[in-house]
Amino acid sequence: MLAQWIIEKKRNGRPLSQDEIAFFIQGYARGEIPDYQMSALAMAIYFKGMTFPEVTALTDSMIRSGKVLTLSSIKKQKVDKHSTGGIGDKVSLILAPLVACCEIAVPMMSGRGLGITGGTLDKMESIPGYRVNLKPYEFISVLKKCGCSMIGQTPELVPADRKLYALRDVTATVPSIPLISASIMSKKIAEGSDSLVLDVKWGKGAFMKTRLEAKTLARTMVEIGKRMGKGMVAILTDMNQPLGRSVGNAVEVIECIETLKGNGPDDLVEITLTLGAHMLLLGQAARSKEQALNILQNKITSGAAFNKFREMVNLHGGKVEYLNNPSQLPHAKHHFACPSPRSGYVSMVDAELIGRACIILGAGRKTIDDKIDHAAGITGIVKIGEKVNKGQPLLILHANERKKLTEAGTLIGNAIKLGREHVRPPKLVTDLIK
Ligand code: URA
Repeated sequence: MLAQWIIEKKRNGRPLSQDEIAFFIQGYARGEIPDYQMSALAMAIYFKGMTFPEVTALTDSMIRSGKVLTLSSIKKQKVDKHSTGGIGDKVSLILAPLVACCEIAVPMMSGRGLGITGGTLDKMESIPGYRVNLKPYEFISVLKKCGCSMIGQTPELVPADRKLYALRDVTATVPSIPLISASIMSKKIAEGSDSLVLDVKWGKGAFMKTRLEAKTLARTMVEIGKRMGKGMVAILTDMNQPLGRSVGNAVEVIECIETLKGNGPDDLVEITLTLGAHMLLLGQAARSKEQALNILQNKITSGAAFNKFREMVNLHGGKVEYLNNPSQLPHAKHHFACPSPRSGYVSMVDAELIGRACIILGAGRKTIDDKIDHAAGITGIVKIGEKVNKGQPLLILHANERKKLTEAGTLIGNAIKLGREHVRPPKLVTDLIK
């Protein structure tokens, strides 16, 4: 078998066999197939796509490039959630402890923010002391003690993805549905869960700009997971406006604490409970969606979910006093409340512009090596359909440098549109794919 024959076959639009895919991916991971041939194959996949058997074989080969976490010593059902990322998407911080209260183990390996979307690890690190880089045995120990753990990807899992993702990033081959699906699913399957719930976001603040693209991505990932023996469900969610009212790191942790205490914004609560209900159904902790929603709601009202969050943070070395007193979490020196130029109804909140403004404020990264300012961000963001009066703040910018406030303020000028007529808030959960 020669690498160039495989590239030629895909370039001509023919499906590759499992052996051909394994030969290529294993060869690339071992350094025997050079970057230029891998780039050519990635570009051929970008243009010609892959069938379900091919994308499953690609996922499988990527998993085999490294170790797989064995969670068999944890007897509970293990159910994870993955989001394709969005602005203000802080759901994992609420969902993991909430579902762990329901006799399900939630092993969560998350990422950092890059580009306009934030990352769970950066948010968790705004809690002083919280360690995201637990060793696999520590991860398992935390899971056994409290039922949930949120850590970063360990280097032994799916090394082929790290290499291939870096290559795709510089060869314009990131936005390919088979490549994205195999990249996400290989990492999630290597993590050892029994089932997975996917939140595939679409809209201005998401990776997938249209609902149709998101649907194709979700279907592909669900199919891969099922073919590999996992319980799978995907929901599609609208990400044209930010999720919740805060975007950043510490400011999002504060919003999560409020949500765990039962005072969360409606959209954040709706998505969290919907995902949680599907996790309970997959983990056989509820018989119907209604029952699952009831159980989850009770775990919030009783305080169990917030207690579980504190327990997990403590087991990760995080200082729980900051959760009891969130005003002590990192906070910025300077603030600016953007006043509404007139009275009216909010008709649009551009999640992408809000995400970009957050990067300027210091809450996100321009490159992978940039340092995050955990205190920076935006709070008090108005939502589509709300009525605002002239002079009322549309959002509040937080930064540690005054000039960043000015720069972000200029960018954000067009992020919020007002109309004379009331606008109905968009449907949040648009599709369910099983
Ligand atoms: N996230 C991933 O992990 N991989 C991709 O290819 C895209 C988004």
